Amino acid sequence: MLDGKKIVLGVTGGIAAYKAVEVASRLRQAGAEVHVIMTRAAKEFVTELTFREISGQPVASDMWAPVTHWNVAHIALANLADAFLIAPATANLLAKAAHGIADDMLTTTLLATPAPLFFAPAMNSRMYGHPATQQNIATLRSRGAHIIEPATGHLACGTDGPGRLPEPAVLVKALDDFFRPEKTLAGKNVLVTAAGTVEPIDPVRYIGNRSSGRMGYAIAAEAAARGAAVTLVSGPSSLTPPEGLKRFVPVETAAQMREAVLAVFPAIDIVIKAAAVADYRPMTVAPNKIKKDAGEITLRLEKNPDILRELGQRKQPGQILVGFAAETENLLAYAQSKLEKKNLDFIVANDVTKPGAGFNTETNLAKLIARNGTVEEFPLLSKRELAARLLDRITEKNKAEL
Ligand code: PMT
Repeated sequence: MLDGKKIVLGVTGGIAAYKAVEVASRLRQAGAEVHVIMTRAAKEFVTELTFREISGQPVASDMWAPVTHWNVAHIALANLADAFLIAPATANLLAKAAHGIADDMLTTTLLATPAPLFFAPAMNSRMYGHPATQQNIATLRSRGAHIIEPATGHLACGTDGPGRLPEPAVLVKALDDFFRPEKTLAGKNVLVTAAGTVEPIDPVRYIGNRSSGRMGYAIAAEAAARGAAVTLVSGPSSLTPPEGLKRFVPVETAAQMREAVLAVFPAIDIVIKAAAVADYRPMTVAPNKIKKDAGEITLRLEKNPDILRELGQRKQPGQILVGFAAETENLLAYAQSKLEKKNLDFIVANDVTKPGAGFNTETNLAKLIARNGTVEEFPLLSKRELAARLLDRITEKNKAEL
């Protein structure tokens, strides 16, 4: 769930600050973009360099240092964050946050952000149990902040009790759970196609395209996370199929994709066709490897079936069809015409000439065109985030029509 999320990790001056290094590492491994803000006291425990290397981003700490990466650092971080995690959160930080004190980079940014806040208090048990700290925690909670309860156990001060920073996995899970979508697609059968088809020329060569499968796999993962029973039909891809699928059907050619799709289609509620299906295939496949000494050769191509068009013809009331259009010119006009010709409910128009958009990228830039002609334009997003936004829209239609 953290893939593509921008997490600001605030690190304060407690002995558990070293654990925040692993938190940053795990968040990054989960696909999050991690920005670390350290207080002055935190730097007594762990160096900025450590967090810079682990997060792969500059570390913010000094309000007065020249800013090279952002216009105004605390405002930029406050605006970009999808969530803040303060770990460890000392009694001092909790008190300042509860009372709106803004006297360093972290507390100033906390006041300026609209993002959800997660505090992981860690301190000596008596400090934690002190009415002042408990009151500050209650104040933060009453304003909607999430408090990740400290673990109980041996503390650095030599005592046992509540106040330990929970293990990094627990902190990361708290964020992951927060971003986990509601099961809005529970009970729905969703079919997603992904990656490019390959059309053999001879036993070792084929006609293919640059689709990696990332867009389709992201949609399948997001639909599964929302509770759908997902069938993913995929052309060759180096990606691991997402967890939680009902069915994964690997195929190679357009003909195989057609067969796999048509076999399940009658029981499907929503089809999303992100696959880049080859429009043409060689008319004949050479039984043996074509030799170079054949000199110039001519390949005769024939049209592949248009799978989506066929689905559009067979569509029953209540079934929702979503296509993708990868275009290099006249984006909206070409996409709109595909939506009509193929009898779709939505089409996702990709201008694949734009940097960061389309084939084999981690991100995509797309416009969603609905059957009624409305166009929604999304900013450059991770493919997972785009998948989430698309499913939000499709689910709205789903609620209204199914
Ligand atoms: O896999 P990635 O590297 O993440 O790249 C993602 C992507 C660029 C492949 C994806 O975002 C995308 O745009 N997919 C559609 C690519 C495409 O083939 O577009 P098209 O305009 O040629 O086809 C229009 C629609 O008809 C598509 O939904 C396609 O799946 C479908 N089609 C096309 C031809 C055909 N013979 N049968 C089909 O079903």
